Amino acid sequence: MKRWVGTLGTFLLLGLGGGAWIVATGAFDVSAGWKDPAWVRWLLVNTQENSIKRRAHDLAPADLDRQRRIDEGFRSYREMCAICHTPPGQKDSPVSAGLNPPPPDLAESAEEMSASELFWVIKNGIRMTGMPAWGKTHDDTELWDIVAFLKILPDLDEKGYEALDVKLAPGHHHGEAGHSHSHGASSSAVAEEPLDFSGMEIE
Ligand code: HEC
Repeated sequence: MKRWVGTLGTFLLLGLGGGAWIVATGAFDVSAGWKDPAWVRWLLVNTQENSIKRRAHDLAPADLDRQRRIDEGFRSYREMCAICHTPPGQKDSPVSAGLNPPPPDLAESAEEMSASELFWVIKNGIRMTGMPAWGKTHDDTELWDIVAFLKILPDLDEKGYEALDVKLAPGHHHGEAGHSHSHGASSSAVAEEPLDFSGMEIE
Protein backbone atom coordinates (compact mmCIF):
# COMPACT_ATOMS: atom_id res chain seq x y z
CA MET A 1 0.00 0.00 0.00
CA LYS A 2 2.74 2.39 1.01
CA ARG A 3 4.71 1.67 -2.14
CA TRP A 4 1.57 2.16 -4.27
CA VAL A 5 1.01 5.59 -2.79
CA GLY A 6 4.65 6.45 -3.41
CA THR A 7 4.47 5.43 -7.09
CA LEU A 8 1.29 7.41 -7.61
CA GLY A 9 2.88 10.43 -5.95
CA THR A 10 5.90 10.20 -8.23
CA PHE A 11 3.70 10.06 -11.34
CA LEU A 12 1.65 12.99 -10.11
CA LEU A 13 4.77 15.05 -9.56
CA LEU A 14 6.15 14.11 -12.98
CA GLY A 15 2.80 15.03 -14.57
CA LEU A 16 2.64 18.37 -12.80
CA GLY A 17 6.28 19.04 -13.59
CA GLY A 18 5.76 18.20 -17.26
CA GLY A 19 2.64 20.38 -17.39
CA ALA A 20 4.48 23.28 -15.80
CA TRP A 21 7.37 22.78 -18.23
CA ILE A 22 5.00 23.00 -21.23
CA VAL A 23 3.31 26.11 -19.83
CA ALA A 24 6.57 27.84 -18.96
CA THR A 25 8.64 27.02 -22.05
CA GLY A 26 6.00 27.60 -24.72
CA ALA A 27 6.68 24.14 -26.16
CA PHE A 28 3.03 23.71 -27.12
CA ASP A 29 2.19 25.04 -30.59
CA VAL A 30 -1.06 27.05 -30.34
CA SER A 31 -1.13 28.09 -34.01
CA ALA A 32 -4.30 27.50 -36.03
CA GLY A 33 -2.17 25.87 -38.71
CA TRP A 34 -1.46 22.86 -36.55
CA LYS A 35 -3.44 19.74 -37.50
CA ASP A 36 -4.59 17.48 -34.68
CA PRO A 37 -3.66 13.82 -35.04
CA ALA A 38 -6.69 11.66 -35.90
CA TRP A 39 -7.00 10.26 -32.39
CA VAL A 40 -7.01 13.73 -30.80
CA ARG A 41 -9.66 14.89 -33.26
CA TRP A 42 -11.69 11.77 -32.48
CA LEU A 43 -11.52 12.50 -28.75
CA LEU A 44 -12.51 16.14 -29.23
CA VAL A 45 -15.38 15.41 -31.63
CA ASN A 46 -16.85 12.70 -29.45
CA THR A 47 -16.50 14.71 -26.26
CA GLN A 48 -18.24 17.59 -27.99
CA GLU A 49 -21.07 15.53 -29.50
CA ASN A 50 -21.88 13.84 -26.21
CA SER A 51 -21.65 17.12 -24.31
CA ILE A 52 -24.19 18.70 -26.67
CA LYS A 53 -26.53 15.67 -26.55
CA ARG A 54 -26.49 15.70 -22.78
CA ARG A 55 -27.33 19.38 -22.50
CA ALA A 56 -29.77 19.95 -25.35
CA HIS A 57 -33.15 19.63 -23.66
CA ASP A 58 -35.11 22.56 -25.02
CA LEU A 59 -38.25 21.46 -26.82
CA ALA A 60 -38.48 22.80 -30.34
CA PRO A 61 -41.44 25.08 -31.06
CA ALA A 62 -44.11 23.34 -33.14
CA ASP A 63 -44.11 25.99 -35.86
CA LEU A 64 -40.49 25.71 -37.04
CA ASP A 65 -41.72 24.99 -40.57
CA ARG A 66 -43.52 28.33 -40.88
CA GLN A 67 -42.23 30.42 -43.74
CA ARG A 68 -42.03 33.50 -41.56
CA ARG A 69 -39.62 31.78 -39.17
CA ILE A 70 -37.55 30.38 -42.02
CA ASP A 71 -37.27 33.82 -43.65
CA GLU A 72 -36.25 35.46 -40.38
CA GLY A 73 -33.72 32.69 -39.83
CA PHE A 74 -32.31 33.20 -43.31
CA ARG A 75 -31.75 36.88 -42.60
CA SER A 76 -29.85 36.07 -39.42
CA TYR A 77 -27.84 33.32 -41.10
CA ARG A 78 -26.81 35.65 -43.92
CA GLU A 79 -25.77 38.32 -41.45
CA MET A 80 -24.24 36.25 -38.65
CA CYS A 81 -23.23 32.80 -39.90
CA ALA A 82 -22.44 32.90 -43.64
CA ILE A 83 -18.98 34.40 -43.11
CA CYS A 84 -17.89 31.19 -41.39
CA HIS A 85 -20.42 28.55 -42.51
CA THR A 86 -20.18 28.98 -46.27
CA PRO A 87 -23.59 29.13 -48.02
CA PRO A 88 -24.43 26.69 -50.86
CA GLY A 89 -22.46 27.42 -54.01
CA GLN A 90 -20.23 30.08 -52.46
CA LYS A 91 -16.48 30.08 -51.85
CA ASP A 92 -14.96 30.00 -48.38
CA SER A 93 -14.36 33.46 -46.93
CA PRO A 94 -10.91 34.36 -45.59
CA VAL A 95 -12.38 33.89 -42.10
CA SER A 96 -13.69 30.38 -42.68
CA ALA A 97 -10.59 29.33 -44.62
CA GLY A 98 -8.35 30.27 -41.69
CA LEU A 99 -10.26 28.64 -38.86
CA ASN A 100 -9.12 25.47 -37.12
CA PRO A 101 -11.24 23.43 -36.62
CA PRO A 102 -12.96 24.45 -39.86
CA PRO A 103 -16.61 25.57 -39.60
CA PRO A 104 -18.69 22.58 -40.78
CA ASP A 105 -21.20 22.60 -43.62
CA LEU A 106 -24.40 23.33 -41.71
CA ALA A 107 -26.51 21.46 -44.27
CA GLU A 108 -24.84 18.28 -43.05
CA SER A 109 -25.07 19.31 -39.41
CA ALA A 110 -28.79 20.02 -39.83
CA GLU A 111 -29.34 16.48 -41.07
CA GLU A 112 -27.35 14.89 -38.29
CA MET A 113 -28.45 17.01 -35.35
CA SER A 114 -31.87 17.46 -33.77
CA ALA A 115 -33.50 20.89 -33.63
CA SER A 116 -32.79 21.19 -29.92
CA GLU A 117 -29.13 20.22 -30.40
CA LEU A 118 -28.73 22.88 -33.08
CA PHE A 119 -30.46 25.38 -30.80
CA TRP A 120 -28.15 24.54 -27.90
CA VAL A 121 -25.00 25.01 -29.97
CA ILE A 122 -26.20 28.29 -31.47
CA LYS A 123 -27.18 29.62 -28.06
CA ASN A 124 -24.11 28.47 -26.12
CA GLY A 125 -21.34 28.27 -28.72
CA ILE A 126 -18.41 25.86 -28.61
CA ARG A 127 -15.45 26.98 -26.61
CA MET A 128 -12.03 27.33 -28.23
CA THR A 129 -13.31 26.73 -31.75
CA GLY A 130 -14.45 30.14 -33.02
CA MET A 131 -18.14 29.19 -32.77
CA PRO A 132 -19.71 32.10 -30.81
CA ALA A 133 -22.49 31.87 -28.21
CA TRP A 134 -25.32 33.84 -29.81
CA GLY A 135 -27.50 33.57 -26.71
CA LYS A 136 -25.64 36.51 -25.18
CA THR A 137 -27.04 38.89 -27.76
CA HIS A 138 -30.16 37.22 -29.19
CA ASP A 139 -33.36 35.95 -27.63
CA ASP A 140 -34.60 32.38 -27.95
CA THR A 141 -37.22 33.24 -30.59
CA GLU A 142 -34.55 34.60 -32.90
CA LEU A 143 -32.35 31.56 -32.31
CA TRP A 144 -35.20 29.14 -33.07
CA ASP A 145 -35.83 31.07 -36.30
CA ILE A 146 -32.25 30.24 -37.28
CA VAL A 147 -32.87 26.57 -36.48
CA ALA A 148 -35.97 26.75 -38.71
CA PHE A 149 -33.80 27.98 -41.58
CA LEU A 150 -31.06 25.40 -40.94
CA LYS A 151 -33.64 22.63 -41.23
CA ILE A 152 -34.38 23.62 -44.84
CA LEU A 153 -30.72 24.21 -45.69
CA PRO A 154 -30.10 20.60 -46.83
CA ASP A 155 -32.73 21.16 -49.56
CA LEU A 156 -31.21 24.43 -50.78
CA ASP A 157 -28.84 24.50 -53.72
CA GLU A 158 -27.01 27.56 -54.99
CA LYS A 159 -30.05 28.76 -56.97
CA GLY A 160 -32.43 28.28 -54.07
CA TYR A 161 -30.12 30.21 -51.77
CA GLU A 162 -29.78 33.06 -54.23
CA ALA A 163 -33.55 33.21 -54.70
CA LEU A 164 -34.00 33.68 -50.95
CA ASP A 165 -31.21 36.25 -50.93
CA VAL A 166 -33.04 38.31 -53.55
CA LYS A 167 -36.48 37.82 -52.01
CA LEU A 168 -35.22 38.91 -48.58
CA ALA A 169 -32.83 41.64 -49.69
CA PRO A 170 -31.68 43.80 -46.77
CA GLY A 171 -34.20 46.62 -46.34
CA HIS A 172 -34.05 50.36 -45.99
CA HIS A 173 -34.81 52.05 -42.74
CA HIS A 174 -38.09 53.90 -42.61
CA GLY A 175 -37.84 55.44 -39.18
CA GLU A 176 -39.92 54.53 -36.18
CA ALA A 177 -43.25 54.38 -37.90
CA GLY A 178 -41.95 51.56 -40.01
CA HIS A 179 -44.42 52.29 -42.77
CA SER A 180 -43.68 50.81 -46.12
CA HIS A 181 -43.86 52.64 -49.37
CA SER A 182 -43.09 51.68 -52.86
CA HIS A 183 -39.50 51.40 -54.02
CA GLY A 184 -40.36 50.29 -57.48
CA ALA A 185 -39.79 46.65 -58.25
CA SER A 186 -37.50 46.13 -55.27
CA SER A 187 -38.76 43.83 -52.57
CA SER A 188 -36.58 45.52 -50.01
CA ALA A 189 -39.32 47.96 -49.00
CA VAL A 190 -41.05 45.28 -46.96
CA ALA A 191 -37.92 43.93 -45.34
CA GLU A 192 -38.40 46.22 -42.37
CA GLU A 193 -41.70 44.55 -41.54
CA PRO A 194 -40.75 40.92 -41.33
CA LEU A 195 -44.05 39.95 -39.75
CA ASP A 196 -46.22 41.13 -42.62
CA PHE A 197 -45.42 39.75 -46.01
CA SER A 198 -48.85 40.45 -47.48
CA GLY A 199 -48.63 42.53 -50.58
CA MET A 200 -45.03 41.52 -51.10
CA GLU A 201 -44.04 41.15 -54.70
CA ILE A 202 -41.34 38.77 -55.71
CA GLU A 203 -39.92 39.21 -59.16
C1 HEC B 1 -16.44 33.06 -36.47
C2 HEC B 1 -16.87 31.90 -37.15
C3 HEC B 1 -18.24 31.34 -36.88
C4 HEC B 1 -19.44 32.00 -36.93
C5 HEC B 1 -19.68 33.47 -37.24
C6 HEC B 1 -20.45 31.01 -36.70
N1 HEC B 1 -19.88 29.79 -36.49
FE1 HEC B 1 -20.86 28.04 -36.13
N2 HEC B 1 -19.09 27.07 -35.91
C7 HEC B 1 -17.86 27.63 -36.13
C8 HEC B 1 -16.85 26.62 -35.98
C9 HEC B 1 -15.36 26.82 -36.14
C10 HEC B 1 -17.51 25.42 -35.66
C11 HEC B 1 -16.88 24.05 -35.49
C12 HEC B 1 -16.61 23.68 -34.10
C13 HEC B 1 -16.01 22.29 -34.01
O1 HEC B 1 -15.61 21.70 -35.03
O2 HEC B 1 -15.92 21.81 -32.93
C14 HEC B 1 -18.94 25.75 -35.62
C15 HEC B 1 -19.93 24.84 -35.30
C16 HEC B 1 -21.28 25.09 -35.44
C17 HEC B 1 -22.32 24.10 -35.25
C18 HEC B 1 -22.11 22.64 -34.85
C19 HEC B 1 -22.13 21.82 -36.10
C20 HEC B 1 -21.71 20.39 -35.97
O3 HEC B 1 -21.90 19.65 -36.94
O4 HEC B 1 -21.16 20.02 -34.91
C21 HEC B 1 -23.51 24.72 -35.50
C22 HEC B 1 -24.91 24.12 -35.45
C23 HEC B 1 -23.20 26.09 -35.84
N3 HEC B 1 -21.84 26.28 -35.80
C24 HEC B 1 -24.14 27.03 -36.20
C25 HEC B 1 -23.85 28.37 -36.43
C26 HEC B 1 -24.85 29.37 -36.69
C27 HEC B 1 -26.33 29.09 -36.83
C28 HEC B 1 -24.21 30.56 -36.79
C29 HEC B 1 -24.82 31.94 -37.00
C30 HEC B 1 -25.84 32.33 -36.06
C31 HEC B 1 -22.78 30.31 -36.63
N4 HEC B 1 -22.62 28.97 -36.41
C32 HEC B 1 -21.81 31.28 -36.71
C33 HEC B 1 -17.60 28.94 -36.45
C34 HEC B 1 -18.54 29.94 -36.59
